[in-house]
Amino acid sequence: MLPKDSMANTFLVSLVLCVVCSLLVSGAAVALKPMQERNKLLDRQKNIIEAAGLAEDGKRLSGKEIEELYAARVTPQLLDLETGEYVPDADEKFDPRKAAKATDTSTSIEGEYDIGVARRENQTWVYLVKDSGGNIQQVIVPVYGMGLWSVLYGYVAVDQDLRTIKGLTYYEHGETPGLGGEVENPTWKSKWIGKQIWAEGKPREDENLMVGVAKGAPSGDKAKYEVDGLSGATITSRGVDSMLKYWFSDDGFGPYIQKLASQQGASN
Ligand SMILES: Cc1cc2nc3c(=O)[nH]c(=O)nc-3n(C[C@H](O)[C@H](O)[C@H](O)COP(=O)(O)O)c2cc1C
Repeated sequence: MLPKDSMANTFLVSLVLCVVCSLLVSGAAVALKPMQERNKLLDRQKNIIEAAGLAEDGKRLSGKEIEELYAARVTPQLLDLETGEYVPDADEKFDPRKAAKATDTSTSIEGEYDIGVARRENQTWVYLVKDSGGNIQQVIVPVYGMGLWSVLYGYVAVDQDLRTIKGLTYYEHGETPGLGGEVENPTWKSKWIGKQIWAEGKPREDENLMVGVAKGAPSGDKAKYEVDGLSGATITSRGVDSMLKYWFSDDGFGPYIQKLASQQGASN
């Protein structure tokens, strides 16, 4: 037995304390990991459901209800952005964010639309909502781009006509609450419903891209395509504008949506 006030005893007590604490912390991290992963997945599913407006108005869904509604209504498909085709037998664990970081699985973002991010993945998940006859009712696509402080990640649901926005949600960002963080404000989000992405009656091509955030309140014809910016958050608003234009351009989901529209025989 070491004397209580000896140097060796002090070291021994500190060592035991450190080992016990580190075991507790790492044990908790390992034990909670699956729960964190499930919550992250649930949050994404909740946002997809919200963008698509699949839940009853204003109803708060439990985790189980989110999982059930998602499984019943949403079909994820891995999309090759270059070809506009789905990737057959896709690995459900495919992570587009990881793919965007590696040069062999991503493309550099250049040209007209700057989203403040250097590269984007070549393949990404899109989500289809179908009716009982298997016809596409909505396509939900992921969008992201730089705001003021952070990259904002969200989803845009495009309606059956493959032109009209059905909903927009952001599920991850680091913008200031009350300023750029107002991208999450339900009133602002609801303003996107019904906005047209391309000029009415014109081909879904870059020269006809009209969707975006207005500088000031959108007036006249622009109100069909634009939502007013967030006050005190011009930079975040500009980020939302750029990312919508980029992701619906020929470099983003444009070719895929054109292809879907011609397969569906959409009127224009
Ligand atoms: C503490 C602090 C946080 C801010 N957060 C944001 C933000 O999240 N998004 C944003 O666009 N601007 C933010 N701003 C304001 C920007 O610095 C900039 O002034 C603003 O985007 C200009 O917009 P305005 O012309 O609408 O005032 C913040 C400013 C301060 C001082």
